[in-house]
Amino acid sequence: MGPPSSSNIVLRMVIIDNDPENLGLLRSTLATEPVEVFTATAESEGLDLVRSTRPHVVLLGVETQPLGGIQTLEKILEMDPGIDVIFMSTHYSTESAIEAIQRGACDYLMKPVPVVKLVVKIGELLANARLRQHSRELDCELVDAFQFEGMVGRSPLMLEVFRKIHRVARHFRTVLLTGETGTGKELAARALYRLGPRASGPFVACNCSAWSESLLETELFGCVKGAFTGAIQDRKGIFEYANGGTLMLDEIGEVSLPTQARLLRVLENQEIQRVGSPIVHNVDVRIIAATSRNLPAMVAQNKFREDLYYRLSMMEIRLPALADRKEDLPLLERYMLHSFAAKSNKQIRGLTRRVQALLSRYSWPGNIRELENVIGHACIMTEADIIDIRDLPEHLRGGQDSANLSPGKEEIIPLDEIQRRYTRRVVDQLQNKAQAADLLGISRTKLYRLLAEPDAKSEKTGRDIL
Ligand SMILES: Nc1ncnc2c1ncn2[C@@H]1O[C@H](COP(=O)(O)OP(=O)(O)OP(=O)(O)O)[C@@H](O)[C@H]1O
Ligand SMILES: [Mg+2]
Repeated sequence: MGPPSSSNIVLRMVIIDNDPENLGLLRSTLATEPVEVFTATAESEGLDLVRSTRPHVVLLGVETQPLGGIQTLEKILEMDPGIDVIFMSTHYSTESAIEAIQRGACDYLMKPVPVVKLVVKIGELLANARLRQHSRELDCELVDAFQFEGMVGRSPLMLEVFRKIHRVARHFRTVLLTGETGTGKELAARALYRLGPRASGPFVACNCSAWSESLLETELFGCVKGAFTGAIQDRKGIFEYANGGTLMLDEIGEVSLPTQARLLRVLENQEIQRVGSPIVHNVDVRIIAATSRNLPAMVAQNKFREDLYYRLSMMEIRLPALADRKEDLPLLERYMLHSFAAKSNKQIRGLTRRVQALLSRYSWPGNIRELENVIGHACIMTEADIIDIRDLPEHLRGGQDSANLSPGKEEIIPLDEIQRRYTRRVVDQLQNKAQAADLLGISRTKLYRLLAEPDAKSEKTGRDIL
């Protein structure tokens, strides 16, 4: 049996407001909508209702709430960070609206709430709830569809990497994998190996930075008894072990110049000599070199042999930094959430919107490895079935931690303006309006309207903030 039809979803809503007249008005406005409404005039009663009914949405009148509603918002999100909380106030101020949104509220409406606006909002929230109901299944399908040999990605940059690996795997003798730390060079190397004609031969990986200069030579080429103090017997090197298969020379930028010369000889003649031996052995090994260093710069500084660099870079595959393909984040987050949730035996629904926003603003210097660590950490820390900001590692929470927020220090920008700018950025990034609307959780009509609206001010400061 499939999931219940999403069109049958009834939105559960708790309204907390000390004004019974407003409550009555809202009730009658919503009577014809597919919404189940529960109301309370006091905070404690309202929180009890939230606890017992687990609503999709809470409409919160904030005038009489402690600290302008922020404290109540925190309590609601503590119970379930997935609830959409909408503030209602007779006194709209940009500062309080921004603070509310930063702390996790999803909208801020003026009282009396205009009927038309509320009905539109309900429509959006319903669409959102439907989307979320199916998003897990959809995400799983997407993760499957955009997985290539254990690598997940749907950005044009990653699809190009997949295509290149696919094309090159069958034919290469030497490949150079470049990219910042944690971008997936090792995964790419294993994919090249598995898809190549030598998949039944050995795959040997050597981390060149793990050995001192002389030990690396012995490690790679082997040695004969008496070649140096301590060489008490003949020893095969990695090249001989990898014969007939594939050798990954990881961190090739760390290899000393003399060892580089020996490597060049293997690449050109397929010949090796054990250290201390005049005998030449032929080896037949496909080589995948990898580095996060800038080899052309090292060549310019005479730290890397130019001839070896040209030899290696004839076929180069560059793994893009995560910061350059942030559109892959939702898919990667879902993929990692699945695998960690399965490992830790936890049922985790997903990430709250504010966590997704925070992760998409972060620069990811450690790339996918760092993302993996962040999601892994959050899965261990979370006590709920959804990851919220408090579950993230300290350095990421930083200024976003609710306790550390200091409203008023930044330039204040109206919410509508923030929404408009952010929407444009997402569309710019994805180059696809339908996808942008889905990711932002808004209808396509709304997205087109936002894009058509003129700017209130120069975008300069706002870009820094968003
Ligand atoms: N596209 C991807 N999809 C899913 N997981 C990925 C992807 N790319 C990398 N990873 C994961 O991120 C981690 C780091 O990847 P990997 O070790 O291949 O990076 P690297 O480029 O070799 O890093 P370094 O330069 O630090 O050695 C691994 O756990 C890997 O499984
Ligand atoms: Mg690596």
